[in-house]
Amino acid sequence: MPDQAVSSSSDAVTLILGIESSCDETGVALVETSDRSAPRLLAHALHSQVAMHQAYGGVVPELASRDHIRRVLPLTDQVMREAGRNLADLDVVAYTRGPGLAGALLVGAGVACALGAALGKPVLGVHHLEGHLLSPFLSADPPQFPFVALLVSGGHTQLMRVDGVGQYQLLGETIDDAAGEAFDKSAKLMGLGYPGGPALAKLAEQGDDQAFKLPRPLMHSGDLDFSFAGLKTAVLTQSQRLRQISDAEFETRKADLAASTQAAIVDVLVKKSLAALESTGLKRLVVAGGVGANKSLREQLNAACSNPRRKGGAVRVHYPELHLCTDNGAMIALAAAMRLQSGRQRALPAVSFEVKPRWPLDAITADTV
Ligand code: KG4
Ligand code: ZN
Repeated sequence: MPDQAVSSSSDAVTLILGIESSCDETGVALVETSDRSAPRLLAHALHSQVAMHQAYGGVVPELASRDHIRRVLPLTDQVMREAGRNLADLDVVAYTRGPGLAGALLVGAGVACALGAALGKPVLGVHHLEGHLLSPFLSADPPQFPFVALLVSGGHTQLMRVDGVGQYQLLGETIDDAAGEAFDKSAKLMGLGYPGGPALAKLAEQGDDQAFKLPRPLMHSGDLDFSFAGLKTAVLTQSQRLRQISDAEFETRKADLAASTQAAIVDVLVKKSLAALESTGLKRLVVAGGVGANKSLREQLNAACSNPRRKGGAVRVHYPELHLCTDNGAMIALAAAMRLQSGRQRALPAVSFEVKPRWPLDAITADTV
């Protein structure tokens, strides 16, 4: 077999296809990179399975896998067409290796490796959270290392110290539910459907965020860990109390409850992010993952971080472009590009593959995946 390994050693342009299939979005994207220039997004396409899972109130893993199978090749054709490239032009095929739903991950990994094998091109497995974490590098205002990262997705809530590509130190994380899960579960209790985060945020705009006194778990714990399970229980109690009065009362007060819930989650995220900045002494914060799209979180973080009276001075906050906050293929192609550029990983011939449904981000710190 010819040596297909691609590293960052030449200045030639490298064209990378990224495939994301870890949960309920099929994302495909094309990124171009070279040693001399920052990675550039040429095209990306996304299919959300929200409508399909809605009837079940959450993601049905088997349905998710089958839908990824249906979508991934048409989406690949679409990005190739939009970028005016052919499959033969690809240098590397990148895919999400984990964490995520095993069956869903296997679809992306299988398709990426089959494409790689058929085209004689190497493949590269990417950590989904590393994709989120690096996604602001595709924005108009990219960050510089080092920074503190607040990773807030449906399955993870973590604060990391990031010194470079693959140099991730966990500062704190949730001990139970993730922030996105707190949004989703609270929204479900309020009858807002799945995924509840955006719906709850929208309803919260019409409510009074002081109306209900909800707990801010671990807010003053002195460490950088989070806990959101107690908040969900408090939302359940308040919902039941309102419904006991009457359905009309529940409907009338729902927006206040949504606003109060969002405020409790955002308060804790802001407080712990500031504490992480203080303890590391760093002056940059990167916010990534689906909850990073939340308007109130952005407003509160921007206000707190731009305050010159903050202990340690003002902090720059960086976000991914709004449409790249939630799962997408662009962040997977980008993370592959940055790993290649940093020399931390080589793309290898597609002879076999393995997915990692459970995979801590700081486990990839030391070397190649
Ligand atoms: O990063 P992501 O797309 O998927 C995972 O890797 O989990 O994050 C999805 C999560 C869901 O919990 C969703 O409700 C939440 O992000 N989310 C939001 C908003 N948009 C997405 N939560 C609050 N406000 C939003 N605007
Ligand atoms: Zn994600």
